Amino acid sequence: MYTYKAAGVQIGVEKVILDKVLKIIQWDKNGGGTFATGGSLTNFMSMLMARDAFNAKIKNEGFQQNNLTVYTSKESHYSIPKNAAFSGIGRENVRYIAADDLGRMDVDDLKNQINKDIAAGYHPVLVNLTAGTTVFGAFDPITEAAEFCTKHNIWLHVDGAYCGSLIFSNKYKHLLTGLEKADSFSFNAHKMIGTPLTCSLIFTKDKKHLYNSFDNEASYLYQTDGDDFNLGKTSLQCGRRNDALKFWTLWKSVGTKGLENIVDHQFELADVAREYIKNNKDYTSYGIENSISVCFNYKGIDPQKLCTALYEKSEILVGFGSNNGNEFIRFVTINAQNEKEDILNFFKKLEDFVEEHGFALKDSSLKIIS
Ligand SMILES: Cc1ncc(COP(=O)(O)O)c(C=O)c1O
Repeated sequence: MYTYKAAGVQIGVEKVILDKVLKIIQWDKNGGGTFATGGSLTNFMSMLMARDAFNAKIKNEGFQQNNLTVYTSKESHYSIPKNAAFSGIGRENVRYIAADDLGRMDVDDLKNQINKDIAAGYHPVLVNLTAGTTVFGAFDPITEAAEFCTKHNIWLHVDGAYCGSLIFSNKYKHLLTGLEKADSFSFNAHKMIGTPLTCSLIFTKDKKHLYNSFDNEASYLYQTDGDDFNLGKTSLQCGRRNDALKFWTLWKSVGTKGLENIVDHQFELADVAREYIKNNKDYTSYGIENSISVCFNYKGIDPQKLCTALYEKSEILVGFGSNNGNEFIRFVTINAQNEKEDILNFFKKLEDFVEEHGFALKDSSLKIIS
């Protein structure tokens, strides 16, 4: 996928998808994008663009002196500290910002931390917001953070790996209000949209940043056609699979309305689960509304032990998570091929399992009896 000469019309497939998404998020013709092999790497690309936008010398000379800092919520994905290590910024220069009870970044804490760092001589270069945090599926407040980032000239990235695909939903896209103020935005079509792995996209408000960070002269490759068609100039890798084709074929087959239905259906399934929990006194809910992560406990049973027992007995694969000291089962309705019955079946299976294996209520030293 690095040159038109090598990839031919496949370049067009990628460009069509990028242009269509840019229109949907309403970024103008200066915007650009590319595909990478996952949300960890699109987050990495955002960090590199932020670093290079701050100081283009670093990519040539390396760090002469490193006092760059990046900001992300404590609920964000673990790729952020990894990427800080890869980019030379360093794990210790990642500031973890508090989240509120609903799992959203506390923007006051963000402002305080940035002001403190500036006063101490650091250079904040990146604020990473999450659209769909890993545990709660919460949405960090973009508008409030963006104002502050603009004031201090800090790159604002929105990591929508998990839930950024709701740009296709008229009903839920308000959860991304303020996206037009971000410098970059990424999402995984291989998550909510359900394309085969891998299919991850990143967009920048101004495509010059993609060239600034990812272009490199290679006269043995770039021999024909313009930069616009030689996509290796804006991508992390050189050779790449045509990930866009997976998205293109799906989009062609179901249409934009079909993509919207895929997204909305996952929220409907989550509502089914939340409603079930609400109406059944054996369940305690911990999650939030407007999310496809449904968090709960059943009969006060230790969620780690229950999830592990379900796994070891090959009954249900479901994970647990925690927030503000509470631990709970985390049930994610990301498979749009499921129906209401599948969700109800999950709860039935869970309840039958507890019944059958004799889990004691609120017993922290829980054991499977049979
Ligand atoms: C919020 C968030 N960011 C980034 C990632 C990483 O994406 P990938 O697994 O495609 O590297 C994930 C994946 O779980 C995620 O939920």
